[in-house]
Amino acid sequence: MKPYCNDDLADINTPLLYNYWYVAALATEITRELTERTILNRSLVMYRDENENVVILQNRCAHRSFPLASSNLEGGGIRCRYHGIKYDHNGNITDVPCQDKCPKTKIKKYTTKETGPVVWIWMGANEKANEEEIPELEIHDMDKWTHVVGQYNYMEGSYMLLHENLCDLSHLPFLHENTFKFPKEYTSAPITVEQTDDQVVFYRQMEDWNLLKPFFHPGLDFGNKQVVYKSGGHYMTPATNKGYGLLYPHDENGDVEEPTGHYVNHYLTPESENRCHYFWYVARNYALDDQDYSKKQGEMVQKGFDEDREAIKLLQDVFEHDQHDYKEIGIKADKPGVVMRKIIKGLVK
Ligand code: FES
Ligand SMILES: [Fe+2]
Repeated sequence: MKPYCNDDLADINTPLLYNYWYVAALATEITRELTERTILNRSLVMYRDENENVVILQNRCAHRSFPLASSNLEGGGIRCRYHGIKYDHNGNITDVPCQDKCPKTKIKKYTTKETGPVVWIWMGANEKANEEEIPELEIHDMDKWTHVVGQYNYMEGSYMLLHENLCDLSHLPFLHENTFKFPKEYTSAPITVEQTDDQVVFYRQMEDWNLLKPFFHPGLDFGNKQVVYKSGGHYMTPATNKGYGLLYPHDENGDVEEPTGHYVNHYLTPESENRCHYFWYVARNYALDDQDYSKKQGEMVQKGFDEDREAIKLLQDVFEHDQHDYKEIGIKADKPGVVMRKIIKGLVK
């Protein structure tokens, strides 16, 4: 019996998708040091050249396969530490110490694009890379928003498990009972799910935000106004999901005012079939000057995501170690994840 038991839905066995933009790293991770990262089963070396431009090359010398990330940065290129062959930032061989002529062979250079806090990489053929296909996840105006950026260099589970987790609003009051402190009432609010082409938008809302108070800054006060809480997400591509949790105050005429709350950009990048990198960006538009709260909020988010990370590892272990005598049931709240898994399965086909 195969995990998930449904051939229409992508699962941990579904082949990885190469013709997409993924986040390779946070911009701050790529420096004048050589760093290795494996993405979609390709070992890569990342660094910045002398002009601070991001360079990502195949992490393998063309001579005897020595890892270039364990070699030396020399100007804008890398000199292999084994027999001294030098590569420029395009992956061309520019010096072979024991001979005059350089072979024409080059190592692969990946197409990248740095935008705000992240660096994107195109994992398909370079000639197919189109920057217009980079998913648009807003990086909010820093005058009105403050943010926390974080990452797990890898999670010990398939990126499909993380995608499903991010489309799943119903785990919040349970798995995150002690961190995000969502009320149990949250699970019974109906979920709206809308699919457009290869994307899914989903949300649920609560008419009384008071139940959510422990999740927000203690100083937030809307007087007697009715405040509706809405939270949800947007599965965009195999590499991205945009989440949010927003409070919508209604004025005395019942008109909806500008929301207060959070946006969370999630960037998922498979390392291999059974591990993934995860980067996030949380923005909030209230209590901007409260540094203590920023620290506390950062710790709460980190703790909450640690819970997801642990759950994903546990799930991966179950699927890998025991595939007997089970058939998963579906519940209403699974719908956003089921639609997302159908889309990804369709992309593979
Ligand atoms: S393995 Fe790199 S120069 Fe020989
Ligand atoms: Fe979670």
